[in-house]
Amino acid sequence: MKMPDLRHAPALPAAHWPLFDVYPQLAALLQPLALCQLPSPVEALPALGEYAWVKRDDGIHPHYGGNKMRKLEFVASELLRKGVRHVYSLGGTGTNFGVAAAILLQELGIELTLFLFRQPPSEHVEHNQQLMRQHGAHLHTFDSLGAAALSWQLHPRRLDPRCYFLAAGASSPVATFAYINAAFELREQIQAGNCPLPAQIILPVGSSATLAGLTLGCALAGLETQVIGVRVAPEKLGFIDICTPAVSRKMMLSAARLLEKHGHPGGSIKVPEPILVSDWFAPGYGCSTAATEAAIRRGMAAGLTLDATYSGKAFGEYLKRLQSGAAPLLFWATLNSQPAQG
Ligand SMILES: Cc1ncc(COP(=O)(O)O)c(C=O)c1O
Repeated sequence: MKMPDLRHAPALPAAHWPLFDVYPQLAALLQPLALCQLPSPVEALPALGEYAWVKRDDGIHPHYGGNKMRKLEFVASELLRKGVRHVYSLGGTGTNFGVAAAILLQELGIELTLFLFRQPPSEHVEHNQQLMRQHGAHLHTFDSLGAAALSWQLHPRRLDPRCYFLAAGASSPVATFAYINAAFELREQIQAGNCPLPAQIILPVGSSATLAGLTLGCALAGLETQVIGVRVAPEKLGFIDICTPAVSRKMMLSAARLLEKHGHPGGSIKVPEPILVSDWFAPGYGCSTAATEAAIRRGMAAGLTLDATYSGKAFGEYLKRLQSGAAPLLFWATLNSQPAQG
């Protein structure tokens, strides 16, 4: 298999963060790294009818697209500013975030250790494991999410300032800004006539920063669009919230407080209620169903790359809404479609 080598990556276009046109003070505070080819295109999906649109985050990086690279633009900059030498994080055995982080951190010379919990085996999971190893990540596998999370939480190097304990899915507080920025990017595309104002945006939700960022971002950008998250991870681990509206709400509140401190015009920001649909999660994280497989086939026929853990489930919800609606609906393509994914 040919491995991506970022040192020989094609030249990237100039950084594109329309968020900073509105909040210039934030640029100096967050200083994201220009990793992605932005804006990601918005495209019609004529095979699925006149109202079907997609935002193609799947191709935003020359070697590994998807929503993680957008978040990592903001997260990696924080790692560099803090002089971090080793990142510890967690995810499922087939984590897409783990692959994106392994590729990028190897390039930045930062070590990566991942605490992984078992998910149902598949070719996709196997391939991601290979990619993470080939990019130098240290993998520790556990039978349950609880066991992986406990090892991560109680790690003896927690207090070492050169080590950074990154939340699953790269959903650290700064990651929310990547998708607030993406909402402003979408507004520019609507204003330029590249796509209509979508009545709804549909996307998968795991660690929640993508949903939080888009929900708050659409509100801040004045887009009258409902953002619909499709839950693909368990709601709780014991009494701890993992994937609930409360998790997204907390992320939005923390981003809103930062915006208020750094140049938000007017008074306090009214944080919208996140919308999370739970119909596609069962029978569990990484478990497919006949309905998910059918959605994946329809998406592939329309030219999309989808997986059974995340984007296939959200696409199932998207197709259902497309059938019953008469307004533009935007599917946010969050899975990598570049060749590294195979
Ligand atoms: C392909 C894909 N889509 C969506 C998500 C969910 O994004 P978030 O973790 O921000 O909720 C993930 C998370 O791993 C993912 O891999």
